[in-house]
Amino acid sequence: MFNVKGELFAVLNRCPHQGGPLCKGNTHGFLESAGVGEFQYSRAGEILRCPWHGWEYDLRTGQSWFDPAHIIVRRYEVTVQPGVTGLQPGPYVAETFPVSIEQEYVLVEVA
Ligand code: FES
Repeated sequence: MFNVKGELFAVLNRCPHQGGPLCKGNTHGFLESAGVGEFQYSRAGEILRCPWHGWEYDLRTGQSWFDPAHIIVRRYEVTVQPGVTGLQPGPYVAETFPVSIEQEYVLVEVA
């Protein structure tokens, strides 16, 4: 989850490229150029760079700058609610997945 000037954005913490931890990436803005020596910086903090190979994602849309037509990071809607009034009462149960070890690999089955 990212707080950009008070606006909250949530994305899956798994880069679509090779699964890098997006929570450890840096955010920056959008740099455009209309010509040599001309630069315009905007949208500070809205572009997320994966720490592994540098692919970049638009926090507002989830689109990749590498391949915006095909690569997108999963986004989640974020709401802010007061105290505990908006939450379902517990007990809470974590989602679990069956795990098995075959030879040297750990396999997680996500149905
Ligand atoms: S895993 Fe994120 S850019 Fe490669």
